Amino acid sequence: MTAHARRAVVTAGTGGIGLETAVGLATRGWDVTLVARDGERGNAARARVDRAAGRPAARFLPADLSSLSETRRLGERLAEEGPLHLLVNNVGGMWTRRWVSQDGIEASVALNHLSPLVLTETLIDALAAGAPSRIVNVTSSAIAAAQPVFDAVEPPGPHYGLATTGRAKLAHLAHTLDLAARLRPLGVTVLAADPGPAATDNAAQMTVDILPPALRPHWEQIRQGVSTPVAEAARAPVAAATDPEFADLAGAVVGPGGVRDDSLARFVTPEVAEAVRAWTAGLLATTAA
Ligand SMILES: NC(=O)c1ccc[n+]([C@@H]2O[C@H](COP(=O)([O-])OP(=O)(O)OC[C@H]3O[C@@H](n4cnc5c(N)ncnc54)[C@H](OP(=O)(O)O)[C@@H]3O)[C@@H](O)[C@H]2O)c1
Repeated sequence: MTAHARRAVVTAGTGGIGLETAVGLATRGWDVTLVARDGERGNAARARVDRAAGRPAARFLPADLSSLSETRRLGERLAEEGPLHLLVNNVGGMWTRRWVSQDGIEASVALNHLSPLVLTETLIDALAAGAPSRIVNVTSSAIAAAQPVFDAVEPPGPHYGLATTGRAKLAHLAHTLDLAARLRPLGVTVLAADPGPAATDNAAQMTVDILPPALRPHWEQIRQGVSTPVAEAARAPVAAATDPEFADLAGAVVGPGGVRDDSLARFVTPEVAEAVRAWTAGLLATTAA
């Protein structure tokens, strides 16, 4: 890695949209830390990023981000390394079958909302020390399928991946907008990025069971729509991270193609924002994160 290069961390950075984001950053001169679980995949991703950049630009740090204590330890380790200039909270996804993390939390909530929140909190001082710096939180149009009900960890009714992930992403977007206002005075610009539907491994494992019954007649159309090449989908997080146009637009949503599109923010009503704050505080208290 290069002395004086700007330092970025990309979570879930060894595959899918995260890896293409890391390639996009490294080719623009950034040093990138790739965080994920599997070491073999990590080494292959590191080599791919280095090749694309034409220099040693990447390193791999292993962590299972579905564990909040492991996420916190990772953040503390990264914070000890000094100023950080960019955090891309890309980890997340959608699952056909419901599963719970080792902390006992439904996975969509753990990975799309709580883990990025915990990692961010541990890195705020490092990002402030690196200011002007940015945080990019990866969001999703699944938000449109969310039930905005935050009475319990999971939404009421059966598990439908699209709706469950949509609600977790809604919570995270509400948190992102709060964070944007909170960190702006520190010179840390917080943005959301929606890559749009992309043909990643996570997308490939989905079946019609992710859909609530009313949407099932549209499954073929929805499935075929998840076809954007992954490198193309990474344009949104890369633009949010690097485009000078977004440097002072804290709280903006950067949509597919890297173009500003705040339409998802309309789902964050004042009532949703308030409910998400209380719900998140309750979840963090129960997990002692
Ligand atoms: N794909 C889409 O259509 C789409 C659309 C809108 C938004 N998004 C959002 O874009 C982001 C990336 O999605 P994607 O489709 O690229 O996902 P993906 O294909 O599942 O991403 C794979 C990456 O995630 C890592 N990963 C998985 N579980 C992990 C864990 N517990 N801890 C650490 N790393 C983990 C994998 O490495 P290991 O397995 O080695 O850990 C690998 O690096 C997500 O936030 C997703 O919600 C995706």
